[in-house]
Amino acid sequence: MGAQEPVVVHKGLENVYVCESNICFIDGENSRLLYRGYSVEDLVENSFYEEVAYLLLYGRLPKREELSSFVESLRQSYELPKVMLDLLKQFPKNAHPMDVLRTGVSMLSFFDNSSDDYSRALRIIGAMPTIVASFARARKGLELVAPKKELSIATNFLYMLNGNEPDEEDARAMDIAYIVHAEHEMNASTFSCIVTASTLSDLYSVVTSGIATLKGPLHGGANERALEYFLSVGSPEKAEEAVEKTLNAKQRLMGFGHRVYKNYDPRYKILKPLAKALSEKKGKAWVYKTAEAVEQAALKRLSEHKIFPNVDFYSGILFHALGIETDLFTPIFAMSRSVGWIAHALEYVQNNRLIRPKAYYTGELNKKYTPIDQR
Ligand code: CMC
Repeated sequence: MGAQEPVVVHKGLENVYVCESNICFIDGENSRLLYRGYSVEDLVENSFYEEVAYLLLYGRLPKREELSSFVESLRQSYELPKVMLDLLKQFPKNAHPMDVLRTGVSMLSFFDNSSDDYSRALRIIGAMPTIVASFARARKGLELVAPKKELSIATNFLYMLNGNEPDEEDARAMDIAYIVHAEHEMNASTFSCIVTASTLSDLYSVVTSGIATLKGPLHGGANERALEYFLSVGSPEKAEEAVEKTLNAKQRLMGFGHRVYKNYDPRYKILKPLAKALSEKKGKAWVYKTAEAVEQAALKRLSEHKIFPNVDFYSGILFHALGIETDLFTPIFAMSRSVGWIAHALEYVQNNRLIRPKAYYTGELNKKYTPIDQR
């Protein structure tokens, strides 16, 4: 019995609008995703991550001088304070890079000397790849690679990770992955971010909240699990049996399904051909073919329920083909999504109201305290 009149409980906040926003439009029935009015396909075709970041943060495409000063400021933020680099080397080697990133962004706040939230935003977005790449090398006992300020965010990340610059095709693939992950309306991690922002907390706390929420396997963590699944299936021939076994055991197929998309995820459409091309180029075509066979087998069972592959289905194949370790996939998602999180937090506080929903109480009332020796 509840203590109040029955109310409608919006489990999972499905279809609940929590704010008005000009940042992102998703039409889940028709597979449309727009950033500030531009389709993600158009941006992937014609733009690059830094310009998309400007668009998301400032609400319009930059003029040439605006873009170059934005990019310049972003690149000034690639470097980490020496104390942080030293600490990263001492973290346990088996720490999950997502935990390292969460702690790293939080720690970055100690060294903040930004003048305003926009410069703070660039500080965070620019430094996140350095945290991830530095830890990825430190845990293997490798020398850290200092960022190169003349490189784009995506290229510089691959450079810091591997110690050499990627070729143009690999760099472009990484940049596209960055663009498609940059923003996605009021998903779970973005909601965390605006909850934090609504208390008038700071941007480091906002992004730390976002990372913490993105980590879970139902959200950003699905990309790691999806790749692990394909590797465990082992070959296209074994896909059908594996999928049957997974679904019959009532387990979820990672990289499938979405709260908003009831048709294909447009980001999946962009990443699939890229994952194919890169897998073939790197001699890992069997992983792509296995994923494709898993997709076909799963669609036979799930498409009638409007459950289709999402962004996480092929992103892992792309990262794997680029030689990136599996536990770095979700941190990459976070590195890119940081811009969307910040854009939403800054937009929300312009018209701020503390986010404070309610829980419908179903427990007992009017109980009397029992002393410990009488329980
Ligand atoms: N595999 C098998 N069954 C599924 C799946 C899946 N991937 N996704 C949903 N279902 C089933 C689910 O079992 C449930 O069935 P029933 O009604 O018989 O219990 C029904 O579909 C509805 O599921 P739900 O969890 O209530 O739906 P939701 O809108 O909350 O689901 C989701 C969204 C993403 C949590 C879910 O599809 C899922 O768990 N997918 C796997 C994890 C994943 O890929 N996450 C990444 C999402 S996209 C990237 C991002 O933005 O985070």
